[in-house]
Amino acid sequence: MKSYLGIALMVIVGMAAALLIGFHPMLSQAPTSYDDEQEGFDTQIVIKFSHVVAENTPKGLAAQEFARLVKEKTNDRVKVEVYPNGVLYSEVDEIDALQQGSVQMIAPSFPNLSELVPSWMALDLPFAFPTNEAVQEAFEGPIGSTLFGQLERVNMVGMAYWGNGFKQITSNKGPIIHPIDLKGQHFRTMRSKLLDAEFRLFDMRTTEMPFNQVYRSYENGTVDGGENSISNIYTKKFYQVQKYMTISNHGYLGYAVLMNRTFWKKLPYDVQLQIQEAMKATTQWANQNAILMNQKQLEDIKNESRIQIYTLTPAERKEWLDAWAPIYSQYESYIGTDIIKMIRQLQQKYGS
Ligand code: LMR
Repeated sequence: MKSYLGIALMVIVGMAAALLIGFHPMLSQAPTSYDDEQEGFDTQIVIKFSHVVAENTPKGLAAQEFARLVKEKTNDRVKVEVYPNGVLYSEVDEIDALQQGSVQMIAPSFPNLSELVPSWMALDLPFAFPTNEAVQEAFEGPIGSTLFGQLERVNMVGMAYWGNGFKQITSNKGPIIHPIDLKGQHFRTMRSKLLDAEFRLFDMRTTEMPFNQVYRSYENGTVDGGENSISNIYTKKFYQVQKYMTISNHGYLGYAVLMNRTFWKKLPYDVQLQIQEAMKATTQWANQNAILMNQKQLEDIKNESRIQIYTLTPAERKEWLDAWAPIYSQYESYIGTDIIKMIRQLQQKYGS
């Protein structure tokens, strides 16, 4: 009984204090600084967006721009929290995290999806896209929509394709000019059977390894080299621990921007539209920016390091193209004849 009286007394004192402090004009505090954690606390929708690369990369910048545009277009109703550098999940576990709803968005590079949906190996085929225009057409045309259509059954929605850039070869053993130069080398590969098979064709060892372990492995010699975009080679400072780089443009590194499907379907329709608008604007900007970043960062690598850079001549490029040609037929049954056909058409249109 006594304790009930005590509680009642505390409530009355508390309310009186709130009235005095909260409503008396002279006693009220100056407005606190803006805090988006508090505004609309019970209605704000939070999207956790996890990725593995640095913030100053095409994907890192695109994720931040998307977050900014979503905030603007939804008038703060939706907040996108971006977690870069694999601080939440590496590429090994981010897909599971998305499917389970631990995060709502990720943007894995294409190889990481091919484990779950093998047809995605299409985008990793050697020399699949001759130019950036061909890449854009693949993203925006039937190749892109067919691959997105296959994500539904794994509880994902494909929101957009973000480009990074063409892949180059780096190694501590070189120079690498002809496919034979890779013989006996040990390469780090991204998570993809197809990419693994590409390198194994050349009588070499491969080890699949998460992105954030690559620098250390180059540095301590666990592996000799690997493939990546200029932007990743620059921002992760691979050029400081690799002696040779071959500008081969032998494959394309890009991202599928994905949302958990259950989460997406529960979003109010108007919010879905605003998010789509934000994504469209981000993607247009991001895919142009990625090209510029890769161009600029190649110059930065040249200026800031002593890595030896070799650019394949057209005849040397043809040697690699021919050496990798069997991969197309070996993986056709996983990728699908239709998609391979569409890629062949793009190659004819833009010159392989
Ligand atoms: C890599 O594993 O090297 C890349 O896929 C990382 C990335 O997301 O760009």
